[in-house]
Amino acid sequence: MSLSLSPPPDLLKIVITGASGLLGRYLMCHLGQRHKVVGLDRNLADFGHPGRWICMDLIDDARLKKVMAKENPDVVIHTVAKVDVDGCEKSPREAFCINRDLTRKLVRLMPLRSKIVFLSTDQVFDGRKPFARETDPIHPINVYGKSKLAGEGVIRKSGKPYLIVRTNFFGWSAGRKKTFGEWLVQSLRQKKPIRLFKDFYFTPLYAGEVAERVGRLLKKRAEGTFHLAGRDRVSKYEFGQILAKTGRLPFSPTIGGKLRENRSLAPRPKDLSLTPSKAEALLGQRMPFLAQSLKAFLRDEHRWGKKSPLFGKRLFAIPYARQTISPSDIRYVKKVLKSDFLTQGPEIERFEKEFANYVGSKYSVACSSATAGLHMSAMALGVGPGDLWWTSSNTFCATADAAQRCSAEVNFIDIEWGTYNMDLGLLEDRLKQAARKNRLPKVVAPVHFAGNPVDMEFLDKLRRRYGFKVVEDSAHATGATFRGEKIGSCRWSDLCVFSFHAVKIITTGEGGMVTTNSAKLYEKLLRLRTHGISRDPRHRSASHQPPWYYEKLELGNHYRMTDIQAGLGRSQLSRIENFLRRRREITKIYDSALKSTGLELPKTTRSANSSWHLYVVCVPETWGTRARDQILGKLRNTGINANLHYTPVQAMNYYRNQAPRRYFSCPLAEQYGERAISLPIFPGLKKGEQSQVIKELKKCSRPFQI
Ligand SMILES: Cc1ncc(COP(=O)(O)O)c(C=O)c1O
Repeated sequence: MSLSLSPPPDLLKIVITGASGLLGRYLMCHLGQRHKVVGLDRNLADFGHPGRWICMDLIDDARLKKVMAKENPDVVIHTVAKVDVDGCEKSPREAFCINRDLTRKLVRLMPLRSKIVFLSTDQVFDGRKPFARETDPIHPINVYGKSKLAGEGVIRKSGKPYLIVRTNFFGWSAGRKKTFGEWLVQSLRQKKPIRLFKDFYFTPLYAGEVAERVGRLLKKRAEGTFHLAGRDRVSKYEFGQILAKTGRLPFSPTIGGKLRENRSLAPRPKDLSLTPSKAEALLGQRMPFLAQSLKAFLRDEHRWGKKSPLFGKRLFAIPYARQTISPSDIRYVKKVLKSDFLTQGPEIERFEKEFANYVGSKYSVACSSATAGLHMSAMALGVGPGDLWWTSSNTFCATADAAQRCSAEVNFIDIEWGTYNMDLGLLEDRLKQAARKNRLPKVVAPVHFAGNPVDMEFLDKLRRRYGFKVVEDSAHATGATFRGEKIGSCRWSDLCVFSFHAVKIITTGEGGMVTTNSAKLYEKLLRLRTHGISRDPRHRSASHQPPWYYEKLELGNHYRMTDIQAGLGRSQLSRIENFLRRRREITKIYDSALKSTGLELPKTTRSANSSWHLYVVCVPETWGTRARDQILGKLRNTGINANLHYTPVQAMNYYRNQAPRRYFSCPLAEQYGERAISLPIFPGLKKGEQSQVIKELKKCSRPFQI
């Protein structure tokens, strides 16, 4: 065992990678009480523990280098690893990439003088001999063990002061992937019959105890390899028994199993027990018995586990959008789950009626997504080879894909600046030209981008003059109005398609709705949603056919929504006005806070009321070509998951490669794709979170404002 002279052990600057992972959090909490800790994690997850957090991905070399130079840590504790043993076996390349190569990069980019602490595993041993010591021969038998051993090798060869800790721990996950300990507690509480191996041994330690021992090893300036393990060598079955006894939980339904019954992919060493005597000798402290560790684990449930108020806190600090699910939504969905129908039941029709009522259309057809709704709409209108389908360049690909699926030809109209909707003046020019060439579109599909309606009255005039059909893509616009009419009323269109994807105004998880005032289109949509099948007696080929007979009339799809989704949709629809009010409030705050930043704020259509699905700001052209990417990148690095909606569809590989097609030029949509940023907006966005977005956005924009 060697002891180094530096760094000074009392107040260390410590950087912890994987800080919101299972052990990372315990380390942040424990070491943060004494030292200056900085947690790095792809998912910003401030669980209220001491220390600072930097939201970043370790694969970002440039940023990692900068962070290391700026923080100049005395110690770097590297907990990031691919630990899923079967997953490693399935993807060995990924396992080595994370467990070895990432470690190598970290070591290269951290300051020369800093010490590296590497969290390794008992799986570096082959498990033939109990109580492995640090000096014992090492023969990993699975990819996980091999890749971690390779990581250890990188550390040893780095020439840096290092500490390698081999351990096997359990703890609370705070709402991320459920750990073995959590699963076991839950299963025992629920009296679930579970199988635990009787012939697989280990010496587990509670994660809090590992964190505490790592702190002590740092204090002692320990260097080299150490085993941190509990005093008891137990099988998984015995672990369960002791946990049940300690927590006074029922153990009886648990069944003992054998490792050879394990159908997992990776070979597992049979005995992973470690001897921690080297660490015990240095620290002058025995390791705890398992019952003590489990007692601490159970005691900490309120602080770390499901009972903690911080459990399941959002991992990405501020997403750009998020669903709002209330207890009443859950209650309603439960009710549907207990009912006779999970699909093709009464909830669908109820939801359709209520939705049609809400938007003011005669009919509505629920479907599995807006993508499905757009495809069905194109089919219902008879769009086929040789037909033209025009849409906005600034949209999600599904608006254009609908026509592709029908083998029609798609083209894109450029946008007007400010609303970023299809430029209807330009559309008129294109229609005039097309009329001269006798190549008018069969369908124009406007998109109410961000929830802000297109001028439907003007579009309707063009529709009458040029005879095309209108399919509104209203994926963003549930609840929006134009001239006092709800989008979806189809007063100025043939069909209108909504999305209920999780981030939309209301959600059914996935889902969509098509509205129309045409009985013919309605019937056609109903059929297209269900395989092109009809039970209508009028459609039978012979009158004597029995009542259970149905006819297939055309090639349809399975685009149905389930009753479970429809139940959620109904419950959400009953709260839509609250959602819209909150979105409008958020918009007002952005409008007033950002007006002096120089950023271009969104404009709305005259006589329209947007549903504000998105709030998009554009970086001024004068700020330079890289300004948007830098601002967007910085926001994301601080945990604000701002986004881009959209890169012009025709610029994407699939559409670009549709040679020899020539699309209309869309210079504004292209510019927009390089200058736009969608800021977080959703009903659950807290005032403090929005202030943080504004503060960070102002901070990131400042260098460009001069
Ligand atoms: C404008 C637009 N159209 C269509 C869709 C497709 O919606 P869905 O995910 O419900 O298929 C989306 C989805 O984001 C969209 O934004």
